[in-house]
Amino acid sequence: MKLYQVSGYQEMCQKAAALLCSQIAEKPNSVLGLATGSTPIGVYKLLVQAHERGEVSFGPLTTFNLDEYCGLGKSDPQSYYYYMNENLFGSVDIDSTRAFIPNGKAEDIAAECAAYEEKITAAGGIDLQILGIGNNGHIAFNEPGEFFEKHTHCVDLDEKTIAANARFFTHPEDVPRRAITMGIKTIFAARKILLLANGAGKKDIMQLALHGPITPKVPASILQLHPDLTVIWSAE
Ligand code: GLP
Repeated sequence: MKLYQVSGYQEMCQKAAALLCSQIAEKPNSVLGLATGSTPIGVYKLLVQAHERGEVSFGPLTTFNLDEYCGLGKSDPQSYYYYMNENLFGSVDIDSTRAFIPNGKAEDIAAECAAYEEKITAAGGIDLQILGIGNNGHIAFNEPGEFFEKHTHCVDLDEKTIAANARFFTHPEDVPRRAITMGIKTIFAARKILLLANGAGKKDIMQLALHGPITPKVPASILQLHPDLTVIWSAE
């Protein structure tokens, strides 16, 4: 594990954006795994700026987002589809036919999950996966539990996650109770993983995830075993 402990959100974003730009420079047709949440917003902003300066092209990339809420459509401002367009896709030259996000409105969720796995495999697997971490140690929407869910699946969100994500919704009761998420094996299969964490609120869970026992009760703890994990952590 490469651990960069940085001072403040901006430094975390700069370091992460620089790593992503190097990945794209080294392999312009990389397959990237993308995350949502508040943590990567500043990283995406820097990538948009780098694109505007002509330093990076998203055209040859393929991307797979980690997760999506069940029941939210593409035009719903709380959907991760909407978030990606707002924060990145709408401002760069990405080929939207190769920017994949699970369909939260799919009629057959199990089929959607299986098809998502197949698309990742068909793309040759993920070269670099960006991750945030939930307050309860979740990665993507893999919630604490008794075992690690392997593949893309539908999950009942943890009460802690629903409470944490209520800040993005006008009414707390609007937070969806279910989501589609890549599984632990899907995430772990990425050739490189970049874990981002920001703020004092994530200090205890990060300590546990990086240095505690490897357990499905702290899903991010599995990352300790990944052969190419980079962590950029601002604990301020
Ligand atoms: C959400 C997402 C995760 C994200 C996490 C942390 O629930 N599904 O992918 O890492 O929350 O969010 P934040 O970055 O806002 O702390």
